[in-house]
Amino acid sequence: MILVKTAKEVQSVVASLHLEGKTIGFVPTMGALHEGHLSLVKQCIADNNACVVSIFVNPTQFNNKEDLEKYPRTLDRDCELLSKAGVDIVFAPGVEDVYPEPDMRQFDFGQIDKVMEGVHRPGHFNGVAQVVSRLFDIVKPDKAYFGQKDFQQLAIIRAMVKQLGLPVQIVPMPIMREASGLALSSRNERLTNDQKEIAVNISKVLFESREWMADCTVEEVVEKVVSKLNSIEELEVEYYEIVDGYTLQSLANWNSSYVVGCIAVYCGNVRLIDNVVYKANS
Ligand code: PAF
Repeated sequence: MILVKTAKEVQSVVASLHLEGKTIGFVPTMGALHEGHLSLVKQCIADNNACVVSIFVNPTQFNNKEDLEKYPRTLDRDCELLSKAGVDIVFAPGVEDVYPEPDMRQFDFGQIDKVMEGVHRPGHFNGVAQVVSRLFDIVKPDKAYFGQKDFQQLAIIRAMVKQLGLPVQIVPMPIMREASGLALSSRNERLTNDQKEIAVNISKVLFESREWMADCTVEEVVEKVVSKLNSIEELEVEYYEIVDGYTLQSLANWNSSYVVGCIAVYCGNVRLIDNVVYKANS
């Protein structure tokens, strides 16, 4: 495995791999890697001739300075994990490499970034689109892998790739969970042991809510999920929305063919997200 820190270096390594006819798979991350990231890496290695993983804590997607400062940075440990996993190239650039000049682009994603995370984290998805398009431009991958825990992010990235006409295939990957059901997240590291046990209720209630579908309206399921979770000490739901999996717009009934519930919950001062599929697009 090689660790490269500049865009120039990674571009030249990738260019020679492409010249040899090799396919490049890419897993963009912000580091603090866990089994969820490693599942993307494993798939990326299986599908492509070479696997590039980026580690870059992107300042433009944080709308909260404290959140950016507190984001865990564990490059040595991350590299160890990636080397063991069989990754070929780790790209860990500095801010000046990704943004030689400030990125002033404002994306227009219509309604999909006006809901949920888009409401509560203004500017977040514009920053994600900036960094992912910039990383795609540098790494020029054939395929790129994203976890479905960030359900709305995946929709934004697909929209961005379509809008910019980028020649990259986006591969969605299932949410990885602890045995308890808690969705894996770098933010879990900030939970105390007690809070971790409390946070398990998020997935527990989401899974349970699938059984309420038959007897309840969408509105009733939303109310039940929110009130159950809010009744648990230390948990505070920021939003729970049951949406169409394609348009991400809130649903009034269960008629849509792809129905997903997306949640953001504070556990103490740690903000966690998760989602559950009520009806899949088979
Ligand atoms: O999901 C993440 O970790 C980040 O939003 C991403 C896609 C690496 C962009 O910084």
